[in-house]
Amino acid sequence: MKIFVPPIKSQGIKTKLAGWIHSNVEGLEYERWVEPFMGTGVVAFNIRPQKALLCDSNPHLIRFYTALKNKEIDSLMVREYLREEGKKLLSSEGQYYYDVRSRFNETGSPLDFLFLSRSCFNGMMRFNKKGGYNVPFCKKPNRFAQALVTKITNQVENISQIIDAGDYTFKNQDFKETLSEMGENDLVYSDPPYIGRHVDYFDSWSEEEEILLKNGLTDAKAKFILSTWLSNKYRTNDYIFSVWKDCSISTKEHFYHVGGKETNRNAVYEALLSNVKLKDSIPNKEMKRRIKSSESQLTTQTVTYKTPEQLTLALEPKTP
Ligand SMILES: C[S@@+](CC[C@H](N)C(=O)[O-])C[C@H]1O[C@@H](n2cnc3c(N)ncnc32)[C@H](O)[C@@H]1O
Repeated sequence: MKIFVPPIKSQGIKTKLAGWIHSNVEGLEYERWVEPFMGTGVVAFNIRPQKALLCDSNPHLIRFYTALKNKEIDSLMVREYLREEGKKLLSSEGQYYYDVRSRFNETGSPLDFLFLSRSCFNGMMRFNKKGGYNVPFCKKPNRFAQALVTKITNQVENISQIIDAGDYTFKNQDFKETLSEMGENDLVYSDPPYIGRHVDYFDSWSEEEEILLKNGLTDAKAKFILSTWLSNKYRTNDYIFSVWKDCSISTKEHFYHVGGKETNRNAVYEALLSNVKLKDSIPNKEMKRRIKSSESQLTTQTVTYKTPEQLTLALEPKTP
């Protein structure tokens, strides 16, 4: 399957899992695809549903895709902009990055957002306590050389065409708002931040939110799929066997590189949890049994997990 890569980058981007997610949802019937946490949109843009509601609490992502949809920006404009701004970046030996960053933090321009996303350190997306973009420069003054400008221009063109071909709505809102708009004919793909992994202005996640998400998805009576991690070298994700214990589960081993070195490969098992049977899913209980009996290749460390009762207790306000 050809994967369409979006022009915006972020640390949680699911480019490498989009094909797997696509094959798992093939054959499921639904009228509208909903993402409460669209991020870069790579999953929706590769599923290519006819109708979609794509939301995120980060206003910059939504502004960027809304601008593409409304033709306020297009691929030709992006090419011109990156060529011109790229020249200034080169002639300033990289200092110009920080001018664009200050400008973006004042105006929120979608083109500046793209510039920063593609020339910051490691394609990170991070905002400080005041909501200001604070990732440093990648230290490559010639970042926007001809080849990269062409690549980004093509990515913008491809994603614009995908948006044009469907009936897509982008909304800047909290997931609870999105959950309240869902109905039984929706298929909801949920990719929330991982608990405790990464905390910034638009992107943090707590146990309470994990439970609210599960309850909201269940109440909406829609089909849903949740992306999360199952296990890495060190630990297993307890929430799968407590909060999500009544879901079916499909897993995939995924490697990521530490420090960009081919030899430093770490494996993480990614999971899709769902209230319907996915193409290669098994019952949650069966997965737990396999892990406990070391039949699977997942970590053999003892799985400690909280029961839903323990989680609920943890959420109750402490008496003074
Ligand atoms: C793991 S990322 C999603 C990645 C996406 N699937 C992709 O491939 O690019 C999680 C997203 O959730 C958004 N987010 C965090 N807290 C949120 C909330 N309370 N409501 C809605 N979106 C939220 C973040 O801004 C981030 O874009």
